[in-house]
Amino acid sequence: MKIGIFDSGLGGLIIARAIHKRMPEYDYVYFGDTKRLPYGNKSHEAVFEFTRQAVDYLFRRQNCAIVIIACNTASARALRQIQQEYLPKNFPNKEDQRRVLGVLIPAAEEASKYKRVGVLSTYGTVASNTWEKEINKLNSQTEVFQVPAPMLVPLIEEREKKLAIPFIQKYLKPLMSKKLDALVLGCTHYPMLKKEIKNNMQIKNKQIQIISQDEIIPPKLGRYLIRHREIADRLSENGSMKILVTDKTQNLSELVKKWFGNYAVEVISDSALSS
Ligand code: DGL
Repeated sequence: MKIGIFDSGLGGLIIARAIHKRMPEYDYVYFGDTKRLPYGNKSHEAVFEFTRQAVDYLFRRQNCAIVIIACNTASARALRQIQQEYLPKNFPNKEDQRRVLGVLIPAAEEASKYKRVGVLSTYGTVASNTWEKEINKLNSQTEVFQVPAPMLVPLIEEREKKLAIPFIQKYLKPLMSKKLDALVLGCTHYPMLKKEIKNNMQIKNKQIQIISQDEIIPPKLGRYLIRHREIADRLSENGSMKILVTDKTQNLSELVKKWFGNYAVEVISDSALSS
């Protein structure tokens, strides 16, 4: 069985690349819902339904034992309900256990080590207030300052890094006076702009830690698989990678080629998804 990795677009691909680099032995299926991107400005209900469809597709049609929701918006809006309702209803048998993990809580664990934390994320993630809730569950002393950065996802999808700089400056401005110890890149697309965000976040005499999920998720997943042999033992190890999207975009295809080599990007039909 395989490891599924899901995002609205190429954000999750950054996480997939980092996971694949650390654990190249497993078989992976990446699924980017490029046709319905961005998720960040969609309603709670829409994000839940898209995420449920993607997870169901990865389990039933792609034979995944575990799915990583490599999208903060979906992790904030849909993960809990999928874990608490979808999984027990659809995979109740102990012999056929499946798992769904998100990317937000592992990064919240890291953020909770600091006193003053800024978070850049999508509108949907900010509206859910999940970052503040999860960080404060772990450390009630951490002060969390959230800023939505809606223009970054479309610019990243278009690979327009330069055009993103004025928006980065605009979004970071309200955080500059907050005496931050750390800044969370609270959307899996943002590590694509890590350098640009770092450069614009510099404050004299102060080192601000950038918390980026492409660095956090692979070791956490590795440790999870060591603890959960019931899942790890079901994973096949042929070192394969399959890339599926709901709409083929040139930028995603180019990135796949650059990061993974000559893997074909396959388009999946609406009917395959709407089970
Ligand atoms: N990459 C996703 C996230 O981490 C969201 C991008 C989108 O708005 O679709 O939130």
